[in-house]
Amino acid sequence: MAALTLLSSRLRLCASAYRSGGAWSQGCAGYFSTSTRRHTKFYTDAVEAVKDIPNGATVLVGGFGLCGIPENLIGALLKTGVKELTAVSNNAGVDNFGLGLLLQSKQIKRMISSYVGENAEFERQYLAGELEVELTPQGTLAERIRAGGAGVPAFYTSTGYGTLVQEGGSPIKYNKDGSIAIASKPREVREFNGQHFILEEAIRGDFALVKAWKADQAGNVTFRKSARNFNLPMCKAAETTVVEVEEIVDIGSFAPEDIHIPKIYVHRLVKGEKYEKRIERLSVRKEEDVKTRSGKLGDNVRERIIKRAALEFEDGMYANLGIGIPLLASNFISPNMTVHLQSENGILGLGPYPLQNEVDADLINAGKETVTVLPGASYFSSDESFAMIRGGHVNLTMLGAMQVSKYGDLANWMIPGKLVKGMGGAMDLVSSAKTKVVVTMEHSAKGNAHKIMEKCTLPLTGKQCVNRIITEKAVFDVDSKKGLTLIELWEGLTVDDIKKSTGCDFAVSISLNKSSHLSYILSLINGCLWDMNH
Ligand SMILES: *[C@@H]1O[C@H](CO)[C@@H](O)[C@H](O)[C@H]1NC(C)=O
Ligand SMILES: *[C@@H]1O[C@H](CO)[C@@H](O)[C@H](O)[C@H]1NC(C)=O
Ligand SMILES: *[C@@H]1O[C@H](CO)[C@@H](O)[C@H](O)[C@H]1NC(C)=O
Ligand SMILES: *[C@@H]1O[C@H](CO)[C@@H](O)[C@H](O)[C@H]1NC(C)=O
Repeated sequence: MAALTLLSSRLRLCASAYRSGGAWSQGCAGYFSTSTRRHTKFYTDAVEAVKDIPNGATVLVGGFGLCGIPENLIGALLKTGVKELTAVSNNAGVDNFGLGLLLQSKQIKRMISSYVGENAEFERQYLAGELEVELTPQGTLAERIRAGGAGVPAFYTSTGYGTLVQEGGSPIKYNKDGSIAIASKPREVREFNGQHFILEEAIRGDFALVKAWKADQAGNVTFRKSARNFNLPMCKAAETTVVEVEEIVDIGSFAPEDIHIPKIYVHRLVKGEKYEKRIERLSVRKEEDVKTRSGKLGDNVRERIIKRAALEFEDGMYANLGIGIPLLASNFISPNMTVHLQSENGILGLGPYPLQNEVDADLINAGKETVTVLPGASYFSSDESFAMIRGGHVNLTMLGAMQVSKYGDLANWMIPGKLVKGMGGAMDLVSSAKTKVVVTMEHSAKGNAHKIMEKCTLPLTGKQCVNRIITEKAVFDVDSKKGLTLIELWEGLTVDDIKKSTGCDFAVSISLNKSSHLSYILSLINGCLWDMNH
């Protein structure tokens, strides 16, 4: 009788989940087949652990870049030859490693990802209409998976409001002639406390392929360093979770409070035969780089922006810095100041690049470069990381832009007609009204085309989200209602010069100070903590 009640309540759950449609419903088919599952099953052969994955299955694949990817399970799918897969994974590996291998063998029908990355075969298949690609902001992807595992069919998020993600119509699949065969669907919008949010549906997989560090013989699992990323939420969001680990240890080896994934989420476990742990972007520093800089102020445009950007840091601040100029600005943080750097793949307390002998494939930043962490740092999963970001706990986001509008609209992820790399985490990073968004970029594009303009012509990353713009010529404050105010000017330039190179009008601050920013910068030159610039 008890069993019967349980069964009927499950039936109802499944029926209501089905009505909500979308990816959520796909998981329901497998609901009953797994209901007798009690213990984690151990496998010695990765192929045995995945051979029942059928053609057309939805498979969640852990990892960020090449960090924490289930190498052995991907290898096993190459052997089983399963086809028509929908793969949910932040990236698609590189041409000849990670998920890239399953793209090459044409086993994937659709990718749900935030970033295409530097994967030429991925690009070719997408543009040739051979592969479907559903681009999803990184934090939305992590939360959709988290929701899938937590029994939440959909949720509202500010990420993507006012962009193609909300409006729909971005190409998921092309026809051979280049026209759009499948376009993304628009999202429902709702206002809460004066802010706009869009409805995103949960994702569940038929299978999750996860890479962890160690498991105990009961099936409890731990992850290593930044290799936790999408692996953790994916453990919870599939009918069958298959985890590969580097080591299986005795029960009791982990303290219960140190377990990242309790065994309840782990259905199958296999010890990986071997790990290559390839590094996508090896970045190292040399011993002598720790010393302070020589003190020469170059006249290079990029260096000027970097040094001015460094003035945005405040003692005690939490900051997320985009790759390039923003991250380089952290070289010029004053030594008497502590700035905690957040990396959206799951690190708080980012340190400098490693010395050659410190390089660790399980420790990378959001740009997939090898890094180190400082004492007091912490690691967490991608869903946690974006909760931190979306929740407004990060004080400052600094990133580059292709265009910024007078009222702070930002465009930095896509040029229609050219290759779409994906938005990665950018839409999430600018989605919280509590986080100051600073754009660092060159004042004009090649051929002097305006980058600061009345209205962006490129697809947006975020609407009315930018608070400050720093270029090699000027600094503007941005107000989402009043527009731009020029607050600093590079020495030797006049307000008229800025007017000529800016595509919209702006107010001029009464305290505009022509010399202040240069003199501040000079006082900072010796304030370099480490050198990331090689
Ligand atoms: C792992 O989980 C199982 C069951 O939940 C438990 O019996 C075992 O003691 C756990 N391991 C540790 C180290 O707590
Ligand atoms: C950073 O944000 C927190 C709130 O999340 C706030 O309490 C703190 O004062 C801010 N720190 C700085 C330096 O802006
Ligand atoms: C840091 O040092 C500079 C001088 O190098 C000083 O002007 C500034 O007030 C100091 N800031 C803090 C937070 O101690
Ligand atoms: C201009 O900058 C200098 C040096 O930083 C400062 O002493 C002065 O007060 C500033 N003037 C105004 C009007 O802000």
